[in-house]
Amino acid sequence: MGEFVKVGKISEVTNGKMKVFNIGGKQIAIANIDGEYLAFDDACTHAQCSLAGGMLDGHTLTCYCHGAQFDIKTGKVLAPPASSPISIYKVKVEGEDIFIEI
Ligand code: FES
Repeated sequence: MGEFVKVGKISEVTNGKMKVFNIGGKQIAIANIDGEYLAFDDACTHAQCSLAGGMLDGHTLTCYCHGAQFDIKTGKVLAPPASSPISIYKVKVEGEDIFIEI
């Protein structure tokens, strides 16, 4: 079990959007899907493009570089050219603050 670290405030990630936070030198993206906060590595496993710059459709994130798709709830690849899943992180919200387990 990792420890929960504070990432930011819920007001920083508006509904349907993603934002990248630097957590201990790692770029971690947080998405807000109708009040559900999901955290995952921002770097696409294909060629390291920022996934937060991609397009969200529900839990499906499309990388803007070459179109790979990931399920940001599970980290699984849904469409190539990426072949490796992205790391995901457990999220908890306390009051206004977002925490992730690392
Ligand atoms: S870097 Fe994401 S699909 Fe190529």
